[in-house]
Amino acid sequence: MFRRKDLLGLRDLSREEIMTILELAAEMKQKIDDPSLRSTELKKSSIVTLFYENSTRTKMSFMLAGDYLGAMVKDLGVSTSSVNKGESLIDTGMTLDQMGINVMIIRHQLTGAAHILAKNVKASVVNAGDGSNEHPTQALLDLFTILEYKKRFEGLNVTILGDISHSRVARSNAFGLTKLGANVTLAGPSTLVSNSMKCLGVNVTSDIPAAISNADVVMGLRIQFERQKNMPFPNLREYSSLFGVNNELLKKYAKEDVLIMHPGPVNRGVELASEVIDGKNSVINIQVKNGVAVRMAILKLLTESNVQGGGAQ
Ligand code: CP
Repeated sequence: MFRRKDLLGLRDLSREEIMTILELAAEMKQKIDDPSLRSTELKKSSIVTLFYENSTRTKMSFMLAGDYLGAMVKDLGVSTSSVNKGESLIDTGMTLDQMGINVMIIRHQLTGAAHILAKNVKASVVNAGDGSNEHPTQALLDLFTILEYKKRFEGLNVTILGDISHSRVARSNAFGLTKLGANVTLAGPSTLVSNSMKCLGVNVTSDIPAAISNADVVMGLRIQFERQKNMPFPNLREYSSLFGVNNELLKKYAKEDVLIMHPGPVNRGVELASEVIDGKNSVINIQVKNGVAVRMAILKLLTESNVQGGGAQ
């Protein structure tokens, strides 16, 4: 069951809503490889992407997800838009609303930007990442991938490792995974993971071997240099030797069937060694494909829910 105008975060979603999205995504995934299964069910919907921050995976997979369902999909191209003349987010949203847009997909550097947009437009709004707050569609594709490989969430040990403090991916995954019964450990240097995160119902540690040794899933996260005020460790070589994951570390401490994940883009050789990214336990490329399937499911569910915003009746 899914009856929402917007998808703004996993903090707000119930277990049932999350599972509805994941179940529909499993159906949608077939359409990626088999063009004959692609449909026109969203042919009356128009979708716009508004990315105030850079993206490859999220933006492109939303655009393709809309295309595969027959929607009209446009990118605002924020850097060449009237945003550069000082137009506010609300005015930009209201302008697009008047043009008959049904779904707005926004990535913005400020926490809460998607919520502000959602309050001011009839269209459905999807949060494609707001500051360090949430990145719900990334977490949903991560959940989908975990379920595909591990077949359950209950009792699963998931370690998220790296730049936790700036990570909207870590927060959305923590909300989703704990709701579904997984045990979540956030690991990294104390400058990048704070004990205050324990309020999310997760474990926090800087002991990397311990964080890896019991894990069914290890998710690496990129150091977000663009969000750092000061360098949180002396140098990259030191970071990768103390907190990076390589084959030697996995062989010594990890389970044989540990799933290696990363939302991308990866700083190869920093949070994960190339041998791990390209290794037999890595599902990083599968995550990308699953992102299209999950985003197709989200577009379909929101369009069906938001009749007021011009969705299906
Ligand atoms: N994982 C993720 O959000 O990637 P992009 O920044 O390329 O969209």
